[in-house]
Amino acid sequence: MESPKPNGRGLSRRRAVGLLGAVGTATMTSLAGCLTGSRSDDDDDEETGSEDGSTLEFVHWWTAGGEEDAVEALLEGFLTQYGYDESRVSENPAPGGAGSALAAAVQSRLIDDSPPSVFQLWPGESLAPYTDSDVLADISDSWSTEMRETYLESVQALSRDGDGYVAVPINIHRLNNLFYNTAVVEDVGVEPATLTDPNDLLEAFEAVEDAGYVPLAHQTQDAWPTLQLWETVFVGLHGVESFRALLDRETEAPEPAIAETLELLVDYREYLSPDSDTLAWDQANGQVIAGDAAFTHQGDWAAGQYEATGLAYGEDWGHVAFPGTEGIYAMVLDSFVMPEPNPTPELTAEFLEYCGTVDAQERFNPPKGSIPPRTDVPIDAFPPFLVDQRAAFDASSSQPPTITHGSGVEPRAKSELEETFANLLENWNPEEATERIVEIL
Ligand code: GAL
Repeated sequence: MESPKPNGRGLSRRRAVGLLGAVGTATMTSLAGCLTGSRSDDDDDEETGSEDGSTLEFVHWWTAGGEEDAVEALLEGFLTQYGYDESRVSENPAPGGAGSALAAAVQSRLIDDSPPSVFQLWPGESLAPYTDSDVLADISDSWSTEMRETYLESVQALSRDGDGYVAVPINIHRLNNLFYNTAVVEDVGVEPATLTDPNDLLEAFEAVEDAGYVPLAHQTQDAWPTLQLWETVFVGLHGVESFRALLDRETEAPEPAIAETLELLVDYREYLSPDSDTLAWDQANGQVIAGDAAFTHQGDWAAGQYEATGLAYGEDWGHVAFPGTEGIYAMVLDSFVMPEPNPTPELTAEFLEYCGTVDAQERFNPPKGSIPPRTDVPIDAFPPFLVDQRAAFDASSSQPPTITHGSGVEPRAKSELEETFANLLENWNPEEATERIVEIL
């Protein structure tokens, strides 16, 4: 096999090409600039990691909703565990829901051989461009026997590259949720628990609209919430087996199912927030919180926002599985990885090991709106919503992966699908989108 050829700045060709494969066209352009540009002294000034290995630079995108509180709780626990003061951690957020800005920010640093200490990444398919490019450390030593014995096996499997571990998951989110404002649905006379098919929503939306509320709070500024709505509606209409077959490219004639799902999205369009193209996901969710909208489809990070706003589960807001997906727990996992070369190897290992503890997962998950991937974390003191989600997880018949949040398809396909949905949001042409999705999947 040909060995990697270093470029002018010590960058292996394999590393650059592998990482470029992970991102979309827009990002590729900016990364290409990175590859050909020269590194200036100013670039060094922009990095916030310490030169002497004493400050952990932590890159994540959790600045929205209750997510900021979750990061704070995690970092506080880490500092307390090791008796460190605040100067030992420097947060360097790349805000943007579903990592819409993080990949470009981190990948240019990796290509430049100046990575942060640790960054957020979905386990599963998303890891491949990084492991293929040899930019992640094998952290098997940080996976203690206790972790190996207590983490769900399905989660561990997504954290490995071959036999070695490269990621430490911290949570399990659910994607197939429908959240609602209780006062609004009661006022309108809609009972969310009676909606059992994605088509049922149309009638409910109409009733909500007639009563003067926004039926479905949704953001279209970015494409990812519509891509995740599409995959959820697909599961709701066609079931998990068809969805998995689609991801595995095993469906012989996928057009009709894809087209039907897209056509329903076009019907939903009439009922979205009128200002959807100016909103971030937590602002759309804010319309439900404010009692201006009845429903929103979102991962249960939205629940963290309800809790942070002081709304009471069951009284002020409620939740059902997205119509047609009862008994299904579409998993979205977050994990942390150690890039190499690493500016703070020991500190990074300490942080990753901490994230694998009961203490870390007990602190992080309640404000985040997720359940722990370790099976021995006591959850009795978690918010009642999460106690219910945990029961739903335990009772679920399947836990499919997701396209939008990285576990279901390789990053290149995910980014092409995002482009497809960005186009759909421009032209609302389901035929064109169907054709494109069939080419990609
Ligand atoms: C997901 C991530 C969640 C949440 C969400 C919204 O991809 O796994 O933790 O942050 O995006 O940004």
